[in-house]
Amino acid sequence: MTRTALIAAMQEELAALLPAIDGARIEHRGGRAFWLGRLGGHEVVAVRSGIGKVAAAITATLLIDHYEASRMLFLGVAGGIGAGVQVGDVVVADALLQHDMDASPIFPRHEVPLTGLARFPVDAPFSDAVARGAEAALGQHADTAALLGHGSRLHRGLIVSGDRFVSTAAESQALREALPDALAVEMEGAAVAQVCHSFGTPLAVVRSISDRADDTAHVDFGLFLNKVAGPLGLAIVQQALG
Ligand code: ADE
Repeated sequence: MTRTALIAAMQEELAALLPAIDGARIEHRGGRAFWLGRLGGHEVVAVRSGIGKVAAAITATLLIDHYEASRMLFLGVAGGIGAGVQVGDVVVADALLQHDMDASPIFPRHEVPLTGLARFPVDAPFSDAVARGAEAALGQHADTAALLGHGSRLHRGLIVSGDRFVSTAAESQALREALPDALAVEMEGAAVAQVCHSFGTPLAVVRSISDRADDTAHVDFGLFLNKVAGPLGLAIVQQALG
């Protein structure tokens, strides 16, 4: 049996998705509510991880080791830091890195000690399917793009994670200087990628851009989270799972 795990950090990011699960059964474990059921004919388990790398890692471990998730999709919002990554765009990760990991000079900056890795991989075929789903979902949400005053675009590349909401232009500039190819910043994806790498579980991460991780990030983030993140997330998942 293939069971796809669907994880988001916050309730708003899952709000539209949970009611779409057929025959949902809710189990509580480790302070989290796991929704088991079917979505578009697929066996799924959906859960809110909570915010930050530790919360995400606990949740991913439970999904794999207890709920026998055979693949994992992390969805939610992120701050855009790459040039041209705008509010309303969608980023599908092709690798994830913990931008606040630094055990230098003993290990290279950003490398997770004793793994030999700074950039954790995603599953390419699953990420391709998610990217196709995101393209289709963006087509459906053309009205949102119009609202934002530009056509929403899909990007693929590096997503970076850390235990910090990036909310100043200076901080996002520092991230761009340290990691010039980073497209988006959030607080969970790279932790889930490390867990999935440990267990050999295929992973995809998709994030819609809620803010530019600058001085107005907290305002833009709240507006986007409440209005767009939920329905866009559901549309991406439905399209990606087929
Ligand atoms: N998630 C959404 N926006 C973010 C930001 N600016 N920093 C960290 N995580 C985010």
